[in-house]
Amino acid sequence: MLFLPVLFAVLYQVHTLPLHTEEGKFFNQLLTLSFFFFFHYDKNYEINEYYQRLQIFLDNKKKIERHNAGNHKFSMGLNPFSDMTFAEFKKSYLLTEPQNCSATRGNHLSSNGPYPDMIDWRTKGNYVTNVKNQGACGSCWTFSTTGCLESVTAIATGKLLQLAEQQLVDCAGAFDNHGCNGGLPSHAFEYIMYNKGLMTELDYPYTAKEGECRFKPDLAAAFVKGVVNITKYDEMGMVDAVARLNPVSFAYEVTSDFMHYKDGIYTSTVCHNTTDMVNHAVLAVGYAEQNGTPYWIVKNSWGTYWGINGYFYIERGKNMCGLAACSSYPLPLV
Ligand SMILES: *[C@@H]1O[C@H](CO)[C@@H](O)[C@H](O)[C@H]1NC(C)=O
Ligand SMILES: *[C@@H]1O[C@H](CO)[C@@H](O)[C@H](O)[C@H]1NC(C)=O
Ligand SMILES: *[C@@H]1O[C@H](CO)[C@@H](O)[C@H](O)[C@H]1NC(C)=O
Repeated sequence: MLFLPVLFAVLYQVHTLPLHTEEGKFFNQLLTLSFFFFFHYDKNYEINEYYQRLQIFLDNKKKIERHNAGNHKFSMGLNPFSDMTFAEFKKSYLLTEPQNCSATRGNHLSSNGPYPDMIDWRTKGNYVTNVKNQGACGSCWTFSTTGCLESVTAIATGKLLQLAEQQLVDCAGAFDNHGCNGGLPSHAFEYIMYNKGLMTELDYPYTAKEGECRFKPDLAAAFVKGVVNITKYDEMGMVDAVARLNPVSFAYEVTSDFMHYKDGIYTSTVCHNTTDMVNHAVLAVGYAEQNGTPYWIVKNSWGTYWGINGYFYIERGKNMCGLAACSSYPLPLV
């Protein structure tokens, strides 16, 4: 069965070929089916669910093609979520309850700039771990948290660790976090601070399920001595922090089009921009500007087959989808 991933990889490379010729159409059908089978590789559907999945997949594919034929700053593509409706996706991957995330007055102290035109912590040094995959568990907040703590610790010590999301899923409940049902990076940083440490991924592997807390104090590998909130809706405060200090955790609202994001600068007129509507947490690792549109470079936790090898760009400077509603970062204890 190894040939399937290989076939997929080859087809993926040539996915952008023109599709108006007869060969192109045939190729398009072949590609569609290959994608479908590839993404079903480790999903075990019953035969009748299988046809329902194929129908959802084809509907999504139509949506994607319609979007890509229009004039947009970002494009959509098939990905491992293409056989799901947004309602299903939301239930498995997003925060379903409103989060208490507003920092009416944050404790981040901004400088007066000036700021560089672009910054990317992935290329400044060995500061950002590989994109991870949260699986079907609303644990995005744990990946945003580990991603940020991994980076601030690496910037302070020169050592890039892989930290344990599962410890946060299992153990951080006393700080208004809810395992696979959601939570917030700022509350997770507080948990790590009061708990006195977070273990490594290796010592506390990720399972995408809630379980008993198995924290072992002697295996704690990363520590937090303070939590910094950026005042809500202060997007320049986020720019200041990312430009001068480190990547920053933030939350925003994911709407149905975002599930199909492939590349380009995501913008939306349907998402909300207030603290009570955020439903996903991620990590800003940099920012830049393209053709006059400023954007954030963001690390997601949906694996590397989604977006730009697991990353996405989102418009900067407009509190797009509430991305400036609740952002924070930890002060590492080293
Ligand atoms: C928000 O805060 C209230 C009151 O402290 C609490 O009852 C509720 O569970 C919190 N919601 C979440 C999603 O953490
Ligand atoms: C940061 O914001 C969170 C809400 O997201 C709040 O619970 C916490 O007390 C704030 N921490 C500081 C240091 O202001
Ligand atoms: C949210 O968007 C509306 C409409 O564009 C705008 O008027 C409002 O100022 C925005 N609010 C925040 C908090 O960004």
